Amino acid sequence: MDKPYILHFATPGPRVSPFDVNMAYDAGWDAVVPYAGVGPEDIAAFTQDAIFSRGPNGVRRTGMFLGGRDAWMAADMLLAARAAMVPPFEVSVFADPSGAFTTAAAMLAKVEHALAHGFDLGLRGACVLVLGGTGPVGLVAAALAAQAGARVRVASHAGAQRAQKAVDTLRPRAAGDYDAVGWGDDTASRLPLLRDADVVLAVARAGVQVLAAAELAQAPRLRVAADVNAVPPAGIEGVGAMDDARELPAKAADGRAVLGIGALAIGNVKYRTQQALLRHMRESGGAQYLGYAECLTEARRHVG
Ligand SMILES: NC(=O)c1ccc[n+]([C@@H]2O[C@H](COP(=O)([O-])OP(=O)(O)OC[C@H]3O[C@@H](n4cnc5c(N)ncnc54)[C@H](OP(=O)(O)O)[C@@H]3O)[C@@H](O)[C@H]2O)c1
Repeated sequence: MDKPYILHFATPGPRVSPFDVNMAYDAGWDAVVPYAGVGPEDIAAFTQDAIFSRGPNGVRRTGMFLGGRDAWMAADMLLAARAAMVPPFEVSVFADPSGAFTTAAAMLAKVEHALAHGFDLGLRGACVLVLGGTGPVGLVAAALAAQAGARVRVASHAGAQRAQKAVDTLRPRAAGDYDAVGWGDDTASRLPLLRDADVVLAVARAGVQVLAAAELAQAPRLRVAADVNAVPPAGIEGVGAMDDARELPAKAADGRAVLGIGALAIGNVKYRTQQALLRHMRESGGAQYLGYAECLTEARRHVG
């Protein structure tokens, strides 16, 4: 009898995400086994506990999925798990804490596609304003945008100091051009940031509106406004959840339209990216190590 495909799902937190459990079964894994409270200090021993018992054929039918709420902790755990492998006892590992890697990758892939097809532009040199940039999705979106050559402004509604703490965690992981900015309630302090922005990414907490429709008209360079929040009200007023590079009423200074990308358009690419990578782990026959860079490569295959 063939050995079953077993995915060991570890999180530093108190419980694993049902969303990810569903995704893994739907991608064809026979068993998805949850482990709570597995942190960076445990991951090497955890990995070696998973690899030795099934023989060389069994490792191809074994995988690990890393969750949690902390994007950088998950990235570090992915590296530590890889370092703990003892070839030929080596299994695939996929990190996607709170969906942050696949969601940020899907968002960036959609934005790249809209810039290329709407304006013949890329992210290189573009000013990207990340509203809610201190959360897991925002941090990874900021890192991916910076790696693509964008000038990234990480904004926090709690002020520039909090944004600076986020930027300090970004610099050693993803070299790039970052600024930390406050995103308070008063329009006057927001205007200079909007005036410079080519792209706005709304990645704040679910159900929080961070940008009003009238403010989009105050952004003369703006090309793309992308919103990942699926819980009403929209993160960007006027961007519908289904919008897929839809022209918004706002116009840039050169008369060109601003394109809106909503949460479900991004979620669709996120879903397909996560499914494809979970299947790839199961079917590839060799150990795969999947972090946010691999998520972006995969997400680019699912846009358009
Ligand atoms: N479409 C999809 O497929 C998908 C998948 C996963 C996640 N998501 C969505 O992605 C978004 C980001 O997820 P996440 O886990 O990174 O979010 P999160 O950690 O809950 O929040 C992100 C940031 O939002 C800011 N924030 C909190 N309260 C705020 C308020 N009242 N006003 C303005 N900003 C506030 C906080 O930053 P500051 O306090 O520093 O401003 C926080 O760091 C959420 O909307 C989530 O639902 C979408």
